[in-house]
Amino acid sequence: MEVTARAPGKIILAGEHAVVHGCTAVASSIDLYTSVSLRLRSEGEDTIKLQLNDIGLDFSWPVGRIKEVLSHLGSPFSSTPTSCSLETVKSLAALVDEKSFPDSKIGLASGVYAFLWLYTSILGFKPATVVVSSELPVGAGLGSSAAYCVALSAALLALSDSVKLDVSQKGWFTFKAEAELVNKWAFEGEKIIHGRPSGVDNSVSTFGNVIKFKSGVMTRIDSNMPLRMLITNTKVGRDTKALVANVSARKSRHPDAMSSMLNAIEAISDEWSTIIQSHAADDLCLSANEAKLAELMEMNQGLLFSIGVSHASIETILQTTMEYKLASKLTGAGGGGCVLTLLPTHVSGAVIDKLVEELESFGFQCFTAGIGGNG
Ligand code: MEV
Repeated sequence: MEVTARAPGKIILAGEHAVVHGCTAVASSIDLYTSVSLRLRSEGEDTIKLQLNDIGLDFSWPVGRIKEVLSHLGSPFSSTPTSCSLETVKSLAALVDEKSFPDSKIGLASGVYAFLWLYTSILGFKPATVVVSSELPVGAGLGSSAAYCVALSAALLALSDSVKLDVSQKGWFTFKAEAELVNKWAFEGEKIIHGRPSGVDNSVSTFGNVIKFKSGVMTRIDSNMPLRMLITNTKVGRDTKALVANVSARKSRHPDAMSSMLNAIEAISDEWSTIIQSHAADDLCLSANEAKLAELMEMNQGLLFSIGVSHASIETILQTTMEYKLASKLTGAGGGGCVLTLLPTHVSGAVIDKLVEELESFGFQCFTAGIGGNG
């Protein structure tokens, strides 16, 4: 039996990092996807195989070896989403030879631990081959790990005995009520990868669209406002877990100053959601609203710099887009990764082409993506 599930990446329009501290964020899905195909193998075969196409790595574990490593748990199999303890993550590390990862991709080992936890918790020890492929750049702030955890959880749940997900005629899931379950399992995977994530990335990847997210609660934003964003990838790799920990450490050193800045970021997110939600479909209003969003992005970026998550590469992009009078901000964890530039409707294609050429001359990679599609 074989099933394929896919889930989109995301951009955070406002509120990254602050969302980890209970403040509001506004995020949107983008039309770049991660797909997971899962084929159960016949009973005679006794291995679980994982093929990560985009980083060119394959893993194959005899089921008995996985059982041995997880023997302290009995079986991790669970019909409800369960957290992986630190002790179990350490045990799972025995199954993954970190030397098999290229140096720049060593952080991805935690994605393999997440695979092993989700797999054994949802499907037990059934032999299978799992193939992962993605259109998303890895570790660039576009939610590649969340899309991986969501697509993986959906594929596993589809073949589990305890849960039956609805499958549309196209072969993709129509999640309905089960979406919440997919989202919860994906969050458990994200915790293994990122330590203390807010849950915004897996929520937007599961449910799609534009969402507002605060303290684990997601609200869908229905907006008539067309949003055009240029996404520029600095190609500077970074570690979300470390950046989130650095912000927390700065907050414990400067609690009052940091709380004020995180609250200011929340006010920006709230205003973002009010503007795009109340947008009426007439042109005058559009340019006024675009100008307000541009200012909010500039303020958000200034605060992200102040809480310590910008990077020289991000600042280079900001300087360049500023020369074109365009507003930009980092998206996701920062420290490298991707930058969003708002492209108001009055900006011509020729101007955008010139900007892209200039940004790419620094070695950055520019692209646009559809915003707010299905999860
Ligand atoms: C990462 O995409 C967004 C952060 O706010 C972390 C999180 O929300 O878990 C930096």
